Amino acid sequence: MVSPGPVHDSLTDGIGATPLVRLDRVTVGVAAAVYVKAEYANPGGSVKDRAASAMVTAAEHDGSLRPGGTVFEGTSGNTGIGLAMVAARRGYRCVLVVPDRTAVEKIALLRAYGAEVVLTPGTVAQHDPRHVRRLAGRLAAETPGGWLADQYTNPANPLVHEHTTGPEIWAQTRGRITHLVAGVGTGGTISGTARHLRAVSDGRVRIVAADPATSRYSGGDGSPYTVEAVGHYLHPDTAVDEWPQTYDPSVVDEFVTVPDGDAVRLVRRVAREEGLLLGGSSGTALAAGLRVAAGLGEGDVVVVIAPDSGRAYLSKYFDDEWCVRLGFVDAAEGPLVRDVLPVAPPGPLRVVPAGRRVGDVLANVPDTGGPDVVPVVADRDGATAGRATGDVVGSVSLAGLRRAAADDPDACVTAHLQPPLATVGLGESVAAALARVPGDGRPVLVVADGRIVRAVHRTDLP
Ligand SMILES: Cc1ncc(COP(=O)(O)O)c(C=O)c1O
Repeated sequence: MVSPGPVHDSLTDGIGATPLVRLDRVTVGVAAAVYVKAEYANPGGSVKDRAASAMVTAAEHDGSLRPGGTVFEGTSGNTGIGLAMVAARRGYRCVLVVPDRTAVEKIALLRAYGAEVVLTPGTVAQHDPRHVRRLAGRLAAETPGGWLADQYTNPANPLVHEHTTGPEIWAQTRGRITHLVAGVGTGGTISGTARHLRAVSDGRVRIVAADPATSRYSGGDGSPYTVEAVGHYLHPDTAVDEWPQTYDPSVVDEFVTVPDGDAVRLVRRVAREEGLLLGGSSGTALAAGLRVAAGLGEGDVVVVIAPDSGRAYLSKYFDDEWCVRLGFVDAAEGPLVRDVLPVAPPGPLRVVPAGRRVGDVLANVPDTGGPDVVPVVADRDGATAGRATGDVVGSVSLAGLRRAAADDPDACVTAHLQPPLATVGLGESVAAALARVPGDGRPVLVVADGRIVRAVHRTDLP
């Protein structure tokens, strides 16, 4: 019997009712059932279609968005795609402010729907006027008929998940779900879905939040991570760390933190073994789901929300060269950088925090040997486990600083800033690394899982 599929009057009728897909390859040895809620099956390609259409509909009902109006939003992409799609269908102009590190495919997609895209730096403090949300808010306020969707405060965002995503999962598992696993961006998905599942199960369903390892939500240092659209990054200059009003931390029973490398390697594996092409934040959620499922029994049912597809990340997680350069995977042919590195230096990686006095820096830099030119990184309390490449603002010569200190020890180190050092992946082929890195006598930073682990002389790579 052929299942004909639905016929819709409007594309917004096609949002939701996404499939639940059981995994059976990457779950070998796991007794619990693990399902993926495939949110990329929404018409705009992500979970955010739900929030976008719900926010526009609510604004039309309460009169804040009128015919001829303009939809504004600050977004890392998917909410923008949903809004651009709905705005195109309903005849609104749409202006989206997007962080500059957003995948190029997502930006092209926004433009394809006719939206206007405004790029802004992705790593500025929340109070900075260039910050994604602030800039979108200002543009909306200055535009007659402008309406700011503001997914971070808009109650329609979590509500749509309470009214649709939660009930769908409950019905699809016939009430057998025991664990919900989802990432937290605005928190709309996890908060709304969890609220419904808890209510309908008398609190039996356990809610697991999957978080990038350095995200603030689960208590990380807030340093940059690779996976897009989940977790909470903290710019070092942030005065007050504001969390989205749409995120209700009380719904979370447990956090599972996932290093970027685990998420990246898992989405690559799931594409090849399960035939499911998932985005990075789905990798974060699924890695957490598999970790939770490993400790569960046969009657348990784990549902992992997969927010979008890997199609938006072909130039990142599914690009071998990109993965090798950032130290996420090893090159096919060696010798590799990790094979030829000299024995590790005795102390931690030497870095210089930006914004400090030259005199203070020289008093605090450990004398552990290693190259004289060291990375200058964003000031960040409690940073551990290597430094994120995204925190590097440049480099500085310690010998140069010593000479400068004789004249002016109170000068800021950034007055002596040189360009950032070149990076090579820990699993990159030595030949490829040497062909790429300039022979200018400057040291080279070695990167594993997107974080700097070593500084070496280029001549250390024979
Ligand atoms: C790819 C991706 N993953 C996860 C999320 C997080 O979902 P939420 O904002 O509902 O917490 C988003 C939100 O934009 C997303 O685009």
